[in-house]
Formats: sequence, structure tokens, C-alpha cells
Amino acid sequence: MVTGKYAIETIGLVKRYPTTGRRTGGGGRGAFGTGRGIASFGGIFSTLKRAKGPFIEALRGIDLQIRPGEIFGLLGPNGAGKTTFIKILCTLVIHDEGEAYVNGHDVKKEPGEVIKNLQAVLPESRGFNWRLTGRQNLKFYSLLYGVKEKEAEERIDYLLDFTGLKERADDGYQRYSTGMQRKLLICRALLRNTPTLLFDEPTVGLDPTSSAEFRSLLCDKLAREEGKTILISTHNLHEAQDICDRIAILNRGKIIACDTPANIQHMLLEEKVFNITFVNTTGRAPAGVVLTGLEKLPGVNSITPGYDSEGGFNQVSIRVNKDADLSGILELIVKNGLRIGGITTKEPTLEEVFIAMTGRDAGESGRPRAPGGR
Ligand SMILES: Nc1ncnc2c1ncn2[C@@H]1O[C@H](COP(=O)(O)OP(=O)(O)OP(=O)(O)O)[C@@H](O)[C@H]1O
Ligand SMILES: [Mg+2]
Repeated sequence: MVTGKYAIETIGLVKRYPTTGRRTGGGGRGAFGTGRGIASFGGIFSTLKRAKGPFIEALRGIDLQIRPGEIFGLLGPNGAGKTTFIKILCTLVIHDEGEAYVNGHDVKKEPGEVIKNLQAVLPESRGFNWRLTGRQNLKFYSLLYGVKEKEAEERIDYLLDFTGLKERADDGYQRYSTGMQRKLLICRALLRNTPTLLFDEPTVGLDPTSSAEFRSLLCDKLAREEGKTILISTHNLHEAQDICDRIAILNRGKIIACDTPANIQHMLLEEKVFNITFVNTTGRAPAGVVLTGLEKLPGVNSITPGYDSEGGFNQVSIRVNKDADLSGILELIVKNGLRIGGITTKEPTLEEVFIAMTGRDAGESGRPRAPGGR
């Protein structure tokens, strides 16, 4: 039972796409909503026939709750189902099983209410007039969205300034580079003041400075100041780690982890790595004795010694179980006459954890891409 206390809530969400025949252009309303009038009987028949399968299960039972005001990251390799999930929430794709709610509104039963509550930025979003300038395009959309003229002008100015498009705001859209087109999309999404924003890989195509600016817009202005809920899909693990309150790792249509970036980082952390450096190593215990002793200690999985330019044993890297008692290690080192200069620990990055969980690099293609898909 949905309480409406979550900005986004999904229960057992399943989406299947037919793998054969013509694509349905989103898998939802394709057979009838082609924009070219009612499809022919042949077309309807073939769609119904296709609906029996075979299928790709793009989402295989997604249960997710996103709290109001959260910045939530959806991470996953190519084909994991991120875009499908976002498209279901913004009513572009219809799911086959389960339930999805945006601020308590059912995406299937109340699509109009859902659309009032959210704005999505999809990479393939189009709809800008090539002959109009960037500013004119935004004015056109603000009219369409019913934003009051004065408010729209101020907001457009602010957004153009923020995204660094101000100087080129009065250039024709056709003269915009890919990155500039992307920025205009972001401006368009922010024209309406919706409580929930969905971004599908928003920083792809932006240069590092613009990406950082965009992240600070998301975090500082939209989430923290304005209290918006933000769902962002990304391949960029550093981006997710930087700005997201929580992240879900999606792999082959399933959520395999959902927590804060820090907790996810620790989740698979079966081991810790310590690096111990020694001072005044000359004349001290031979490395062999210490290394053999360390190897025998409980919880120690591997050791890697380091030597200075004169061959002196000056450091050791020790891989231990996450719950290992370190006092035995330190005792052995001190007992053998070595003096400890420093101890550092190395924990796996989110990237290392991601690869361990999904078996794939975030940007690596896992499956053949759907034609016309991203
Ligand atoms: N319209 C469609 N028709 C058929 N199959 C589709 C369609 N859209 C997506 N798929 C398939 O569904 C699966 C999930 O695709 P989706 O685009 O949601 O993944 P993604 O996580 O966004 O991937 P990427 O990181 O490459 O953008 C893929 O196997 C894809 O080929
Ligand atoms: Mg995608």
C-alpha cells in the first residue's frame, strides 16, 4: 500500500520489450500512438502477435523508495535498465507488472498528475526549433508550460546565465554545439517548478567545468535550497559519489545494492589494505623474519614488502580481513626492532566496488544496444 510519503516509489516493477519484429518506439503506446493516425489492422495484429514474446526483461522487479528532497543516483552498465526506469516514471514507457508512484500518483492511472509533479531530461529529448534562438525556444516552452511572462523572463535569464549559455542565448539553435544543446535541455527542464526532476545521464557531452557547475546546481540550489527530489542516472561513479545521498546499482534489470555511496563502498569490503612505513631500517631485523611472521598471523591474507634504493626493508603492504585484529601485526613489527614511521589504509573506490558487483565497467557495453536506443 502506497502512503504518498515517498517522492518516488516502485513495487515489483517489471518491463519486457519484444526482441523481434519492429520496435515499438518505447514499448508502451507504439501500436496505436504513432502520431500518424490509427495503425492499420495488420500493424495492430503484428503488435499483438509480437506481444507474446520473446522478450528482453529490461526491469525484473524493481522495489525502490526515494524520499522527498533526496538526490538519488541510478548506476549501472549499458543495458541495465536505467533509461527504462526513468521513462516509466515519466509515463513514456508503460510497465508490464508492478506499480510505480510519483508523489503518491500512480503512473499508469494518473499520468496527468504525474507529469505535473516531475520533469525529465532525457538525452534524446528534442523539440527545439532550429530556426529560433536558444532564448526564444525557452520562451516558447515557458508559454507552453504556462509560466507567467515576468517570472519566465527572470528564470530564463537566470538559467542561461547559470549554464553559461547567456552569451550565445540569442544565437540560432542550429548553431549550438552538442554540449550547448544539452545545456538548453537542462534549462528547459528547470523552467517549470516541479518538485521532482529526473535526469538521464545529464552530464554526458558537457565539459568538466560545465559538469561541475551542473552538479553544484543540482546539489546546492535544486536539492538543498529548493528541496527538490532528484533522480539521476549516470555512468560517472565519481559524480554519483559526489552528489548523491543514496545510490542504487542496477544490473540486468535488478537492483543489486541500494545505500549511501559510503556504505556501498564498504559493503563488499571483505579486506582492508594497510601500508606501514618504517624509519631507520639499517641494522634492524631482516625482512624475511618479519615477513614470515606476518604471513602466519590470523586474518592476514597477503603481504607485499617495499625496499628503499639501497635495498633496505622500509615498508610493507598488508591485506587483512576487515575484522582482523591489528595489534598482533604491530606487536610483531615492534618486537623485531622496526620503528613505525606511518600507517595508511587504502579502501576500494566506488569504481572498484561497482566492477566487483556488476563484473563490468560502468561505461562498458554489456549487451548489444537497441537500435534507436541511446
Ligand atoms: N524500445 C525498446 N525496444 C526493445 N528493447 C529495448 C528498448 N529500449 C530498451 N531496450 C532494451 O532494454 C534493456 C535496458 O535498456 P535501457 O536503455 O533501459 O538501459 P540503460 O541502463 O539505460 O543503458 P545505457 O547505459 O546504455 O543507456 C536493454 O537490453 C535494451 O536493449
Ligand atoms: Mg540509458
